[in-house]
Amino acid sequence: MELYIDTANLDEIREAHDLGVLDGVTTNPSLIAKEGVDYGKRLAEICEIVSGPVSAEVLAVDAEGMIVEGRERAKIAPHIVVKLPSTIDGLKACKALADEGTRTNMTLCFQPLQALMVAKAGAFLVSPFIGRLDDIGQDGMDLIAQIRQIYDNYNYQTKILAASIRHPLHMVNCALAGADVATVPLKVIKQFMSHPLTDTGLEKFIADYQKTFA
Ligand code: G3P
Repeated sequence: MELYIDTANLDEIREAHDLGVLDGVTTNPSLIAKEGVDYGKRLAEICEIVSGPVSAEVLAVDAEGMIVEGRERAKIAPHIVVKLPSTIDGLKACKALADEGTRTNMTLCFQPLQALMVAKAGAFLVSPFIGRLDDIGQDGMDLIAQIRQIYDNYNYQTKILAASIRHPLHMVNCALAGADVATVPLKVIKQFMSHPLTDTGLEKFIADYQKTFA
């Protein structure tokens, strides 16, 4: 399973990269606005740190505008993946960019047919948003399971990138459901290696050793 970090903050990206198990980065306009930086410049900085896929979202909402913007974003680095919304216009832009050999990440996916359509259009990644479905009283994990089954039924190669992951249980269930990738905030990534019995067990090992040998 691949692990991406979901942020546009360079310190967080460096910290996650230093763990040695980071495969890529996702950004979106909200995350860039939080940093208050130029989107293109920040993407170039991220691409210097991480050599895996870096998702760069377009701001246009019409297909033609998305294609033009996507081509510009793709010039930043070979590992840029153009992020497009899962709309009719996004679908058309996905097909056009995929035909040119540009990898796309189809974002804001909330139902399985969006995932089926973008796979048909040649998307590299599809991003179902787990937490936002939970927020409105639907189980986001059901969507991951449905997309996994549809892609396996027809052997679509589009990767399922579980997004809007808010806590470790989301990650456990995404891994069990067969998501190919998860994009996760740093705070949650750090929780993946945490257990109170690990901490107390380690303290006891050291204390026992020191009692005899210190
Ligand atoms: O990758 C999508 C993510 O940024 C959305 O997360 O927590 O705002 O729903 P959230």
